[in-house]
Amino acid sequence: MASYNFERALSSMARERLEISEIGEMIRLVKHHGAISFTAGEPSADLMPALQLKEAFGDVFDDPSLLGYAGSVLGYPDLREWIRDWMRDDGLLPDWVVASDIMITCGSQEGLSLAGEALIDPGSYVLVESPTYMEALLSFRKQGAVCVGVPTDEHGIVVEPLETVLKSKNIRFLYSIPNFQNPSGYTASAERRIEVLDVLRKYDVPILEDDPYHHLSYDGETPPTYIKLSGGDARVVYLGSFSKIVAPGIRCGWMIAPASLMTRISSLRVNACLDLPSVLQRGLLNYLSRIDVKAHIEGLNSVYRRRRDALLSALDRHMGGMGFTHNRPGGGFFVWGNVDGIADMTDFARYAVASEKVGVIPGSVFFAPGAADQTSIRLSFAKNDEAQSEEGCIRLARAVKNYRKGSL
Ligand SMILES: Cc1ncc(COP(=O)(O)O)c(C=O)c1O
Repeated sequence: MASYNFERALSSMARERLEISEIGEMIRLVKHHGAISFTAGEPSADLMPALQLKEAFGDVFDDPSLLGYAGSVLGYPDLREWIRDWMRDDGLLPDWVVASDIMITCGSQEGLSLAGEALIDPGSYVLVESPTYMEALLSFRKQGAVCVGVPTDEHGIVVEPLETVLKSKNIRFLYSIPNFQNPSGYTASAERRIEVLDVLRKYDVPILEDDPYHHLSYDGETPPTYIKLSGGDARVVYLGSFSKIVAPGIRCGWMIAPASLMTRISSLRVNACLDLPSVLQRGLLNYLSRIDVKAHIEGLNSVYRRRRDALLSALDRHMGGMGFTHNRPGGGFFVWGNVDGIADMTDFARYAVASEKVGVIPGSVFFAPGAADQTSIRLSFAKNDEAQSEEGCIRLARAVKNYRKGSL
């Protein structure tokens, strides 16, 4: 019997607006070739607190009531209160935020998706940084958004072109990753954030602030959040995540939104999955309540700082003088570079992983259509110790040399 062909039954969204993640493909190729990887924006497994999580999660089953459907669509109340207190103590929140403005999400990725569902119609314009997080582009485009890139420099979004777009188009929201941005590594300065907020207020446009790297700061204080700076006007929806500071596999993040939006987002959540597992949220809360969170984050930062410095010095040693330039991120996982004389970085990345067994992400995947910078490249240092970065850069330099020779 011929099997049913689901192509015929697909929605126009599934048929026309779902795109394959080039990052996922590069990560697959890295595994396939057993390559040294500068690809994944994922924390290092050796820094994930497996033993403490095992204990914290084991104790969850002392309370069998957690095995029923959750009482709250927003997520486990005690965890939401913990997040509010933690962020408030760090001075990251405006006064209006109470625990019922916080929803636990399946990573900040779910927050992006829910916000997109609530705020985007097919054809809506969404402003994104140039470059920006690729999975956000895919998620917004799935909803039918037309993503418009705004230029950034080492201080954040450049205000003049931002205002030009705001003047000419009806923008639904600005999506921004202000700290240790994925992919560029840049952090918006406090002054620039204030200027951006002022312009958005003028055109009455909200911000979706995605802040998963907030705590991974290696050179000093992180500037104030947009949500704090926006104060009482509550035009910022904030996304946080435990993926980079605890473990991405627990899939736990949070969204902060004013009540007028949160009621809609709650309905979307019920619609999609009723609620998220209470056992998971209780386990995470057990863990967070038993550790010194500040000391834990300082420990992570001292390792990642060393890894960043190792990659930067290996790049300078092996790629210096080859038409390669790069920035120096103050935190997060990513170094952003440019390689002269390579017209198609996607083709180069495939060549490098297959021939020299080193994985990188071509920068072009991080841009809204029409804005791509073809010579840029993203390198993650999160998972590599000094020796791996050294060997990875030797391979990368060889790949650049041989690729250029081959394309003469
Ligand atoms: C900017 C940005 N937003 C969101 C995410 C998704 O993270 P989560 O694991 O919290 O869903 C990532 C992950 O790499 C990211 O870099």
